[in-house]
Amino acid sequence: MRARRSVADKYCAGPFAAVTAARPAPRAATYEAPPNIALVKYWGMRDRARAVPYNSSLSVTLGRFRSRTRVAFDPTRDEDEVEINGARATGGPREGVVRFLDRVRERAGTADAAVVMSDNNFPTASGLASSASGFAALAGAASLAAGLRLSDRDLSRLARFGSGSASRSVYGGFVEWQAGHRADGSDCYARPVYPADHWPELVDVVVFVEGAPVKEVRSAEAMQASVATSPLYARRLAGVPGRLRAIRGAIGRRDTARLFPLVMEECDNFREVCETTRPSLDYLTTTSRALLGEVRALNREAGRPVAAYTHDAGAHVHVFTLARHVRRVRTRLAHLPGVRSTLIVRPGPGGHVVGPVVRGSSRGRRRSRPV
Ligand code: PMV
Repeated sequence: MRARRSVADKYCAGPFAAVTAARPAPRAATYEAPPNIALVKYWGMRDRARAVPYNSSLSVTLGRFRSRTRVAFDPTRDEDEVEINGARATGGPREGVVRFLDRVRERAGTADAAVVMSDNNFPTASGLASSASGFAALAGAASLAAGLRLSDRDLSRLARFGSGSASRSVYGGFVEWQAGHRADGSDCYARPVYPADHWPELVDVVVFVEGAPVKEVRSAEAMQASVATSPLYARRLAGVPGRLRAIRGAIGRRDTARLFPLVMEECDNFREVCETTRPSLDYLTTTSRALLGEVRALNREAGRPVAAYTHDAGAHVHVFTLARHVRRVRTRLAHLPGVRSTLIVRPGPGGHVVGPVVRGSSRGRRRSRPV
């Protein structure tokens, strides 16, 4: 677990700080952040304006994958430019980034436009959630480039405004995003509960399916539809705190017999809420459903839980198991019709800055306000 720290303190490089305000120069930083998969899902916002969820959630940070984002605030530019995976972003994806930059500009007291370049080392079209890693990386890069000195906790507080799950991608290992109780949302942030090396035998077999549909409704909208229309939503909310405590405890004890059934129960509950939302939210394909059935069959045949499935608002399935079962589980799942590929992922580290922070100059500075 990392202590609270100011990344700006550690990485602002001397020579770059020497650039004077006389000649306008960009202020830039690069930050890398991983995606995560929730074992206890965030689904529904209590306060949309403050991005505060109804319930706390818990996730595993995924090693191997990352979004790397560079933000350069440039006093000579008039408009933000956003490039994602080498292509200029337009419409919704660009607007989401610009809105997030506005929040950072407001906090830092600057009016400069920015150039944002973001790359994922996993295909965005793969359906692997890129909003968590993308917005965590954007939060890190934009805040550093704007001269904000944020602790990881403050970075988590900021990242949730881009995408709720991004609040968890600041940290590695097993991470809990606490919903908090305060009306102003100040106690709403993620915290690491167990480090990435807590349970070396735990493995996530990510199963990519063919023909995963592109999301018709953004998660932020879809979850509010569930709050408003699913008859199961209130019951879900009542059950989540107990399930989260039990899952956190089972991870602490590395207890698969307790953990795996709970993870599947939570996933089933999330899916039932989605399916009973009006209009119904159906994220799975026939193959995804067959995968869930296959994991249940594997456990039945073994006479004990050897694997647990979960999925987010998408068709790909994450199957947690122990290293000693990986070959059996993977072979069994990889052969199902409609499975495109499988990938072994372990819990990994959290977000971090890449290279030096370039301190240039700014125009139109206003008074900054605290985070
Ligand atoms: O962070 P968002 O707005 O993309 O929503 C995440 C929703 C789930 O992935 C389904 C659950 C979660 O906690 O990650």
